[in-house]
Amino acid sequence: MIKYFLLLSVCVIFNSCLENQKKNNETIDLHFLNTHKLDIKNGQKIFNKSCITCHLYGTGGAIILNDKKNWENILKTKTMQKVYTNVLYGYAGSKGPMPKKGACQECSETDLLDAIEYILSVNRLSIRK
Ligand code: HEC
Repeated sequence: MIKYFLLLSVCVIFNSCLENQKKNNETIDLHFLNTHKLDIKNGQKIFNKSCITCHLYGTGGAIILNDKKNWENILKTKTMQKVYTNVLYGYAGSKGPMPKKGACQECSETDLLDAIEYILSVNRLSIRK
């Protein structure tokens, strides 16, 4: 009986690890991405507060705000889920590191999505199909 419980708890712990792993990879809630009510003004505010440090002039290898060609290329080669995951968790880009949450620790997921959409809107692009 005890053995059985032990086995069960190991399974539960193992499963929750798997869940976390999944979350960290790419299972961002698509429903959230698709139904998110865009607030460009909020996006601009977030951009000016945090993203601007790197994305205005390309500091640290970041893509410059109005570099339409590069932003367009990102949308062509990556899913919006991937781009959003990269912003949320950060990643090592070929030109430099993109910090987790764009270095805006207090930003909500909505704030970050607004900020991405703001960048894209400056270039007349959108992650919405
Ligand atoms: C410390 C500098 C820095 C800050 C601050 C920063 N970024 Fe970045 N960002 C980067 C770099 C560097 C890259 C990757 C360049 C590359 O691909 O080599 C990047 C890439 C990106 C990408 C492209 C992701 C992809 O999948 O290709 C997006 C979108 C982005 N940043 C949005 C933001 C937003 C939104 C903020 C603010 C909330 C922000 N960044 C703040 C440096 C920064």
